[in-house]
Amino acid sequence: MNIWSELKKPILCLAPMEGVTDVIFRQVVASASRPDLFFTEFTNVSSFASEKGRHDALSRLKIAPSDPPIIAQIWGKNPEHFSELSGNLKSLGFSGIDLNFGCPDRHVNRAGGGAAMIKTPDLAVECIRRAKASANGLPVSVKTRLGFSFIDEWKPWLSTILAESPSALTVHLRTRKEMSKVPAHFELIPDLLALRDELSPETKLLINGDIKSRAEALRLHEDFPRLDGFMIGRGVFLNPYCFKKTENNSPYSPSKSELISLLQTHLNLFDKENAERLEEGNRPLSFEPLKHYFKIYIKDFPGASELRAEMMNAHSTSEIRKILEKSPFINKSEEP
Ligand SMILES: Cc1cc2nc3c(=O)[nH]c(=O)nc-3n(C[C@H](O)[C@H](O)[C@H](O)COP(=O)(O)O)c2cc1C
Repeated sequence: MNIWSELKKPILCLAPMEGVTDVIFRQVVASASRPDLFFTEFTNVSSFASEKGRHDALSRLKIAPSDPPIIAQIWGKNPEHFSELSGNLKSLGFSGIDLNFGCPDRHVNRAGGGAAMIKTPDLAVECIRRAKASANGLPVSVKTRLGFSFIDEWKPWLSTILAESPSALTVHLRTRKEMSKVPAHFELIPDLLALRDELSPETKLLINGDIKSRAEALRLHEDFPRLDGFMIGRGVFLNPYCFKKTENNSPYSPSKSELISLLQTHLNLFDKENAERLEEGNRPLSFEPLKHYFKIYIKDFPGASELRAEMMNAHSTSEIRKILEKSPFINKSEEP
């Protein structure tokens, strides 16, 4: 069993996004239009290995019924801990394990993880090998960037990774130094394909960076049919229906009422998750981070920014529901 071979090309994935693609938001996306493959937010291997951190690590690895197939994304720098967490992921219900070698966050990099792995290729190789050896047959993939500081690092770095024959390799087409500040380097796709074909033809090659919708991914696939898939991250903020299949593969624009109903789904899932956490004796979820999502749903209609501003002052899901119920901007007839 290998999910990367089972899925039809091009494989469209929701990118792992810390603080965004948690178990609640993945269910929201699934109810709008699901990608072929979900990823968790990244989970630290050493947290899982420690008595103190395991509980938090496990809560990041919670899977909803609508999640599978889903890949667990993991990060760290301790090969032993990569081994330990990888050994547990199959029984938790995951279809694969993805190693994060691309996160640009300073704290993560100072701890030697994420994109810092580009500077320690021997350690990266050891982590891949340890993850594979303990994976109980789950496919092991890597998500990374072109390099740490310079674009021309891509060849030695990705050659090192491909030499380990990961099941899949997702390349965010920027360096760590570039963060997300410059356009993704799509011009390198032919070179990346050639390198994959030469070193590890079985590895699925996925591209990430600035791809906003299924329509855009399919257009890229027409240009580069040997790519196996695409990962969409921030595109889901612009349009939570970005994975929706349409006739002629044209982009799908949800109506105002679809977006508001999706927000209501999000609120309901938040409450459900909170109730489950309390029942299990866990701390309740903080309401504040939920506010980051409001701009996904409340936008592009007269009064949207005033309504959002009002919602930002709320303290609970029930307050939000009351604001929505009373809002003259929402209860007006549908937009043209
Ligand atoms: C808020 C946020 C959190 C992210 N967290 C992760 C993460 O946990 N793991 C990871 O591999 N990439 C993470 N990324 C990077 C995305 O997966 C993706 O590579 C990046 O956003 C570029 O793709 P896009 O242009 O489609 O957004 C994060 C990005 C954002 C915006």
